[in-house]
Amino acid sequence: MASRSIRRGRGSLTARFTAAFRAMGGTDPYAPHFVGPSLRPWLPVARRLDKPLNAASLGLVHAVRARHAWFDGQVEAAIARGARQVVLLGAGFDSRPWRLALGGARVFTCDHPDTARARATAARHLPPRSVDVAVDFASQDFGDALEAAGFQRSQPSLFVWEGVSMYLAASAVRQTLGRVAQLGGQVVFDAWCPRPHRLSALERLGERALGWAGEPLRWAPTPMGLEAMCAAAGLQVVEVRSARQVPGFATAHPGLRLCHAQPG
Ligand SMILES: C[S@@+](CC[C@H](N)C(=O)[O-])C[C@H]1O[C@@H](n2cnc3c(N)ncnc32)[C@H](O)[C@@H]1O
Repeated sequence: MASRSIRRGRGSLTARFTAAFRAMGGTDPYAPHFVGPSLRPWLPVARRLDKPLNAASLGLVHAVRARHAWFDGQVEAAIARGARQVVLLGAGFDSRPWRLALGGARVFTCDHPDTARARATAARHLPPRSVDVAVDFASQDFGDALEAAGFQRSQPSLFVWEGVSMYLAASAVRQTLGRVAQLGGQVVFDAWCPRPHRLSALERLGERALGWAGEPLRWAPTPMGLEAMCAAAGLQVVEVRSARQVPGFATAHPGLRLCHAQPG
């Protein structure tokens, strides 16, 4: 997994940016707290420029918010169905442990040690609501780390894997989803599926910019390729929709697909 953007001691830059997009939308009251001192002063300006920034990013700003809203609904639905464990894989600055009513379910936040440290520092004034599992997915098995931290396969679980798959090689995506299937959990995740639409020059530039920032896009399946990946990992697709189909997000980029799958 690309980790050049996980700056030593300061954590993932893309995780700060996704928190900033949520802060701009005003839907996550904890997000301004997590964006960090270098981005926080820009938030009032960014809020005023939300529509033009979304248009300039061809809907990516709203797609990031759409997936977060959809995953919120998936977490709440899983809790209502009886999930007792929620795993935030590549959690970044996800505030769900404080923001959502999780009915006593155990929450595990799994992230690279540098981002985990940055998250713990930013959250030091908040009540502890999750078991933090620091693990480098590139060199360690997150399943082993989770089980060592108290995760139980026998308990109904939901894995939330948000904003990560597109930065991985297809083999690493299959390995991660396969490990989730082995651990017996349901999973919600997003995938960058820009095709069959042709990418505009601006979209191609955006993809290149991510590469220059140290987090190049690696996995960009077709919608059929996404379903085939789930099957190869031993998962059955429950639902796939585009970010644009999330109610209230007609301005989101349609290339971001949101997927709910369960062990098949
Ligand atoms: C784009 S951020 C998404 C963060 C969060 N899920 C969100 O949607 O706001 C990607 C996350 O993957 C984590 N990550 C990247 N490489 C990793 C690695 N090798 N091991 C563990 N986590 C990693 C980063 O630290 C970061 O939190």
